[in-house]
Amino acid sequence: MDKELVEAQAHVWKHIFSYINSMSLKCAVDLGIPDIIHNHAKPMTVTDLVAALPTLNPTKARNIYRLMRVLVHSGFFAQQEDGYVLTNASRLLLADNPLSVTPFLKVAVDPVLTKPLELLGIWFQNNDCSPFDTAHGKTFWDYAAHDPKLFNLFNQAMASDARLVGRVLIDKCKGSFEGLDSLVDVGGATGTLGKAIADAFPHLDCTVFDLPHVVAGLQDRGNLKYVGGDMFEDVPVADAVLLKSIFHDWNDDECLKILKRCKEAISNEEKGVMIKKKVIIVDMVVMDKEKVNEENSKTFETQLLMDMLMMAVTTGRERVEEEWCKLFCAAGFSEYKIFPILGLRSLIEVYP
Ligand SMILES: C[S@@+](CC[C@H](N)C(=O)[O-])C[C@H]1O[C@@H](n2cnc3c(N)ncnc32)[C@H](O)[C@@H]1O
Repeated sequence: MDKELVEAQAHVWKHIFSYINSMSLKCAVDLGIPDIIHNHAKPMTVTDLVAALPTLNPTKARNIYRLMRVLVHSGFFAQQEDGYVLTNASRLLLADNPLSVTPFLKVAVDPVLTKPLELLGIWFQNNDCSPFDTAHGKTFWDYAAHDPKLFNLFNQAMASDARLVGRVLIDKCKGSFEGLDSLVDVGGATGTLGKAIADAFPHLDCTVFDLPHVVAGLQDRGNLKYVGGDMFEDVPVADAVLLKSIFHDWNDDECLKILKRCKEAISNEEKGVMIKKKVIIVDMVVMDKEKVNEENSKTFETQLLMDMLMMAVTTGRERVEEEWCKLFCAAGFSEYKIFPILGLRSLIEVYP
């Protein structure tokens, strides 16, 4: 009985304190620790690390090993006999890694995004459309449109994710783009993924479509052009429409509207039937909870946490396959295929 009691307390404490994992990671990045260890080019002792931290107040030096201890435990560094080394996870935090996820970390722990999570309980009892509205009095999209700091942090985070996803898509999913003459990346932000696809498939006419203020001033080049507009009103005509990290921002009614605009965009009859027109989605398909086991439970947990973030910040959600299927049917699509090739996310092809 006592054993159960203290185990229950330990369980509660683990969850009470788990935000400290995110904050410890942010601290390591703020201090530049991944880059310092990387530049050292061999295992780094805590003494060398302390000496290499240029702005460290010497009275705090004794605490660096405590920070490193929790980050070793959470897999961001490994401790060898002769010092700390990077892991695959911390390599993704290096400043000069083009696939760096640091911009994503910075926006995710920014108080503008964490405040809505603090107010989740209040939101459940009020009429606001999202906790973000409760916290800031406007939608995330309105806030980002008028706050250059959040706008830039968010776009950099999206661009860093698009670089990583773009690399995998182009490596593993060439078939999805073959046979197409034109593609529009709806909600394509500043065009990181659009550019990668345009470069990898030079015969493909690529359009990056986003809100007018997002694409304002961006230069067309070669087979890539930018178009400003509203995806709820109209989507440029193309053989295929790509939407990465779009549907999870919106509720089912909103998704249905976007899907209908996408269906209209690929329904240009002139092209005949030789081309398999489609909508290509990159988003999460939340794991079936019956299939969760020890090996994949971290993936499931991350999907659930991302779903909570979507609840806090947008009107959207992460969806299980059944929910995706209902949306596709309601929008009049006939068939879909899910390719679970992106770790937490999947590529979904939807056919008219
Ligand atoms: C989560 S971001 C995804 C960006 C990009 N697809 C990616 O994954 O890197 C959502 C994008 O949708 C755009 N967006 C929001 N509302 C929109 C609308 N009504 N019409 C077109 N784009 C919109 C935002 O500006 C933003 O760039």
